[in-house]
Amino acid sequence: MNYEKFLTTITKKRKPNLIRHLTAASLKNPTALNFAGGMPNTAMFPFKEISVTYSDDMRKVLTGTDLFSALQYGPTAGYLPLQKKWREFQCKWHSLQYDNWDVCFTTGSMEGCSKILEMIIEKGEPLMLQSPTFVGIIGTVVPMQSDLIPIRMDDDGALPNDIVNACEERIKSNRPLPKLLYVNPTGANPVGTVYTNERKEKIYKLAQKYDFLILEDDPYYFLHFLDENPRSFLSMDTDGRVLRLDSFSKIISAGLRLGVVTGPQPLLEKLALHINCSTIHASALSQMLVYSLLSSWNDDDVQAHFTKIQKFYRDKRDIMLKAIEKHFTGIAEWSVPRGGMFVWLKITVLEDTYDLAMIKCMMQDLYILPGHCFYPKNDETCQYLRLAYSHIKSEVVEEAISKIAAIIRSTAANK
Ligand SMILES: Cc1ncc(COP(=O)(O)O)c(C=O)c1O
Repeated sequence: MNYEKFLTTITKKRKPNLIRHLTAASLKNPTALNFAGGMPNTAMFPFKEISVTYSDDMRKVLTGTDLFSALQYGPTAGYLPLQKKWREFQCKWHSLQYDNWDVCFTTGSMEGCSKILEMIIEKGEPLMLQSPTFVGIIGTVVPMQSDLIPIRMDDDGALPNDIVNACEERIKSNRPLPKLLYVNPTGANPVGTVYTNERKEKIYKLAQKYDFLILEDDPYYFLHFLDENPRSFLSMDTDGRVLRLDSFSKIISAGLRLGVVTGPQPLLEKLALHINCSTIHASALSQMLVYSLLSSWNDDDVQAHFTKIQKFYRDKRDIMLKAIEKHFTGIAEWSVPRGGMFVWLKITVLEDTYDLAMIKCMMQDLYILPGHCFYPKNDETCQYLRLAYSHIKSEVVEEAISKIAAIIRSTAANK
């Protein structure tokens, strides 16, 4: 594929940074004498060792070269052994179908998404977003003043007809086609949908027909409640048009701030040029901690970890749904989330949920999210609420949900 047409003027102007280039090359060569980089001397860092005990009691002590790697500048795309490990995982999980793909670690998947959007979308250019859309993406793209095209969703994922209509309309009126579609295939935030494989295949074919890229932001990939892992867009990609974002936030730690992009090398090279002049690279210590853990696990251990997480969140979801069923029947509509951390509720007895969430519930110490923030035009009325079941203590759920329902009923009664 020729990626030139997908890049913004700023991205095209980004040039390789010689220091980063030489640092990366020297790190691959144990005999190199590196006079090029401005690396501080680790002997002057006030650390002797860093030790960590993981929850299975495995203890890792970072000393010597490990300590050096954890405290020193490293390659832009990530700690080399972790890059290698992640490439192996991606082959295993997504069976990539083309050759010139690579990985690039980021400071969380949010950083990866916003940099990719800035790399591709100019002011005024059309951009398709599954709608409703994760609030972090709304916060990125609204100030970019792109031409936002909402692609509505049903229980199987984003609607192919909305994509067709948006593209055909533009062809008819001789306007540029969208360059990118943003999606969360697993446990979409905020709706909890898991795209079916058939839906993904249809969307991928449309991407080929109308020649757009797919930004597959999939932080809940391992947090689905299905019997089998879903197929990713990446696994269907024969052309190199999918940029896949994985995040460690939901499966290992959110505070380590680590995510990883997998996609076609030419685009990852451009992404790395942007990272070079912002974060430089994701935290080396975070990468070392994640690498130590992943390299101590065999395939069964990795799967056991994901199975444990899935069961934990499925149980939490079920406790929340039971309370919702009991207290919200007659005042709301919802679908059972098939992944992720949220229930998305339409409050049928109210025209708008903003004051309910931001005033009435807050006054009673109940924090719930009004649906407005998942739409670019957040000043329009919205009947939706998002409730997270991921971190509320199970024993308080029923009482809290009953209080929220009571506030909704009294608000509706006083309309
Ligand atoms: C869809 C989606 N993308 C990205 C993120 C941010 O992930 P990270 O912590 O890896 O930046 C979130 C977090 O809630 C999310 O829901």
